[in-house]
Amino acid sequence: MHRIRGSFAPAVLLLGALAAHSAWAGSARPWLNPKRSPDERAALAVRAMTQREKLRLVFGYFGSVMPGTTYQPPRAVRMGSAGYVPGVPRLGIPPQWESDAGLGVATQRASSDVFRQRTSLPSGLATAASWNPRLAERGGAMIGAEARASGFNVLLGPGADLVREVRGGRDFEYVSEDPLLTGVIAGAEIRGIQSQHVIAVLKHFAMNDQETGRTVYDAQIGRAAARESDLLGFELAIERGHPGALMCAYNRTRGHYNCQNSWLLHHVLDGDWGFRGYVMSDWGAAHSTVRSALAGLDQDSASTVFDHTPYYGPALARAVKDGRVPERVLDEMDLRILRSMFAVGVVDHPIQRKAHINFTADKAVAEADEEQGIVLLKNAGAILPLSSTVHRIAVIGGYADRGVIDGGGSSTVFPVGGSAVRGLGPKNFPGPEVYLPSAPLGAMMGEAPQARFRYASGRNLAHALQVAKWADRVVVFETQWAAESIDVPLHLRRQNRLVAAVARANPHTVVVIESGGPVLMPWLGQVAGVLETWFPGTGGGTSIARVLFGAVDPSGHLPVTFPASVAELAFPHLPGAGLPLGKPFKVDYRRQGAAVGYRWYLLKHLKPLFPFGFGLSYTRFAYQGLQAALRHGRLVVHFTVRNVGHRVGAAVPQVYVAPVKGSVPRRLAGWRKVRLAPGASRTLTVSVDPRLLARYDTQDHRWVRAAGTYQLWLGDSAEHLVQSVRIRLPAWQHSARWPVHYRSAAVPLSAH
Ligand code: GLC
Repeated sequence: MHRIRGSFAPAVLLLGALAAHSAWAGSARPWLNPKRSPDERAALAVRAMTQREKLRLVFGYFGSVMPGTTYQPPRAVRMGSAGYVPGVPRLGIPPQWESDAGLGVATQRASSDVFRQRTSLPSGLATAASWNPRLAERGGAMIGAEARASGFNVLLGPGADLVREVRGGRDFEYVSEDPLLTGVIAGAEIRGIQSQHVIAVLKHFAMNDQETGRTVYDAQIGRAAARESDLLGFELAIERGHPGALMCAYNRTRGHYNCQNSWLLHHVLDGDWGFRGYVMSDWGAAHSTVRSALAGLDQDSASTVFDHTPYYGPALARAVKDGRVPERVLDEMDLRILRSMFAVGVVDHPIQRKAHINFTADKAVAEADEEQGIVLLKNAGAILPLSSTVHRIAVIGGYADRGVIDGGGSSTVFPVGGSAVRGLGPKNFPGPEVYLPSAPLGAMMGEAPQARFRYASGRNLAHALQVAKWADRVVVFETQWAAESIDVPLHLRRQNRLVAAVARANPHTVVVIESGGPVLMPWLGQVAGVLETWFPGTGGGTSIARVLFGAVDPSGHLPVTFPASVAELAFPHLPGAGLPLGKPFKVDYRRQGAAVGYRWYLLKHLKPLFPFGFGLSYTRFAYQGLQAALRHGRLVVHFTVRNVGHRVGAAVPQVYVAPVKGSVPRRLAGWRKVRLAPGASRTLTVSVDPRLLARYDTQDHRWVRAAGTYQLWLGDSAEHLVQSVRIRLPAWQHSARWPVHYRSAAVPLSAH
């Protein structure tokens, strides 16, 4: 017999009794009273719902037609969207209109007659590379506002899976290889989105770290290692952003599909973190009715199109009727969905259709994000910024005369004006390959009216070399398309050959890389400058030009390690590559455990091409005065940054930490971003979350920091550390068990 071990249970019973004999009884819809708490309002609403209405809220529809099927979406969908869940008009509960994704309002290509043209943020990696949570929050608010203006009250993003796999086709949608940077940036974006009364859906929970075999692979990882890496990123994002919902991912974790994984959904998400929102499945990620309901899946998304068979809806009604799923479990699902709708303001701030979108202002938000996310990786002989004395500039490749590349799959935002290059990439999902109409060439000409420009597409080598030889300076663009459902190579073969040939023709060459993640650079020794711009987003061509000519000082720092070769990766051979489609396989993340990215390089004493946290500026900074102290039991670090160069610039001083005893590789413990004029200095403070110095004890469900001496480093990357101090810290522990539970008891933990 299931017991509700949640704070909701007493509330539902109590409110039921109260509602019958109190002043509320006079109010027809007390749950619509905004003075009440979201918990109270949800409990009152569920109490008033029929079972049919409860079943309606947990069953989602695809928001578009699906070629090759007879599926017709409900009339109320926003055609060409990701999803739709009917509301309960009788009770004043609106529908949930769901749009992808974390980079802007996307369009599902299935319905070719609808293309919402909206503003695209740059990659999640670009926002992360800014190390500026305020920018992330502003970007979230911008796409949240465009979502509302487009008729949506649920936005399916941001993605916060750790970048364990640098070839991951969706790395461009994610944030970082480090859980702290991931949690801070994703948490800020969630705050921004939800400030617009749009529910943010943090995804894909969890270990969805590669695209190859994403619906069938089983992520093998120890519970402690998961808590200290991938799950820590989600935990920090939830604490900082309070997302209304999470999306459980396609893959399995420790042998169980994530959307019926009681360890993830019940014990961690609810039992340890006390997550108050609801869990929706990814599109086709549900695999059962009873098991999913008891494990903690609250909403089955786009079920009739993507599930093997619709698992909620009538099947769930039968399971509730025959007692396999207690009615109170269904109540809890609705409680969590409604609580989020009340908490985020979806009910109190109904969608106003045809609201105005200020595309100019929104483009400025995307440009600011990209400008601070561009990473200057090499600047030999200070070739950058391109000076006004340069008279002949060659621009080669990357469709730089047309636009900037964007990522593929469900997150693709179709730009105002349509794609600047047509007919590229797959015709169907995850294509087409989209170029946002913000041409770097045109923007560069605007930055240097005194110069003469020549452009070569790069498809004709002779022409490219002729143009390169003519020029004082050459800017050659590399573009790497990445997309959901596929992983991508690190080696851009044809383009690498072009760059090498151009550099031989003219050593005054700068390479601009528009990629979905790390790439190899076999030509690095032959070129003078390198910029990593990620997928630049709307207006990205302008941002690139402003950095190239110095209107903006580059201040991006890598959120992911750039490898020197595939051989040094934890998995040189991409797991599952070459297997028949749909054949299940395991990915043994125990190889890295929590040593993801730079921590893997430290553990294996490897040297990457460019380390996590690396980024150059047009000026220089000096770090000094590192001190560490305990303040009210919390580790606090102070240091001073000085601009010792001749230009204004922004520094990103980073603090890393590790116990002196043992071989635990250091990890990022905090950072600040500070803009300084030449000669100026600032003393900064970083407060360190104690979990970053602790290990996770799975027996007692607690974080444990041993008493002892800890080493702290200050630097501008995981490798370049300029100061260090030691401090003795007392033992510390924090029980992860949340005082109350919001889900009924489910499969015992021992089953995982
Ligand atoms: C996709 C993606 C998910 C997206 C959803 C709706 O398969 O995995 O990120 O939000 O389906 O399009």
